[in-house]
Amino acid sequence: MSIHLRDVTKTYIVGSAVSIAAMSHVSLDIPKGQRVAVTGASGSGKSTLLHVIGGLDRPTSGEIVVNEVRLDTAKERELPRYRRTVGFVFQRFNLVPSLNVHDNVIAPLIPYRVPFDKSARAIELLERVGLGERIDASVAALSGGQQQRVAIARALVAHPSLLLADEPTGALDSRTGHEILDLIEELQADTGMTVLVATHDHAIAARADRVLTMADGVLISDV
Ligand SMILES: Nc1ncnc2c1ncn2[C@@H]1O[C@H](COP(=O)(O)OP(=O)(O)O)[C@@H](O)[C@H]1O
Ligand SMILES: [Mg+2]
Repeated sequence: MSIHLRDVTKTYIVGSAVSIAAMSHVSLDIPKGQRVAVTGASGSGKSTLLHVIGGLDRPTSGEIVVNEVRLDTAKERELPRYRRTVGFVFQRFNLVPSLNVHDNVIAPLIPYRVPFDKSARAIELLERVGLGERIDASVAALSGGQQQRVAIARALVAHPSLLLADEPTGALDSRTGHEILDLIEELQADTGMTVLVATHDHAIAARADRVLTMADGVLISDV
């Protein structure tokens, strides 16, 4: 999935008059299959960039095209279909505590008809992320690293061509964080998906093909 941003700005109005440029005039092209780290201090705009690319947030101005879908001008009703082609992983896992591991993985598919067996897909992914023995477990009984593996399986359940991970190792110790990156890299090698990982851990960022650095909403470096 290729990604194209041209002069993308996202402004939030806070209170009555103050506006914050969470993203300011960002231009960027990412080819399909690239592994990109997005780094920068807290508040620099990493999450905003991921949300805009994932169709969770609309840009205030600028042009954004992901996999031939023009997101800045798309109608609101067209976005859910687009979002289903994108997998999201978050720092705090965002699992549903009342559901077991298996049901957390299939949860994004519940409203939809899909051309495959949802449960078989969940089991295949849980085996792939090393949790084949914990399919019926309560998510609360799992370690942080295991919960993030469940979240990765959930992100991949609909066969996305783009994975957006927002500080996926931020709540994990360094070793577990690198194991999660190992897993993401293996899954990327299997599927050819494009991967963006926001992180302020330089050791995690250094593993990417390309490192984008944000400061105050501006893309200040692209190497
Ligand atoms: N929903 C929002 N309303 C107001 N300001 C926001 C909102 N989301 C983000 N911001 C502001 O935009 C800036 C960038 O935030 P964010 O993209 O979350 O940065 P990062 O992920 O790098 O920490 C910050 O100043 C943040 O406070
Ligand atoms: Mg963030």
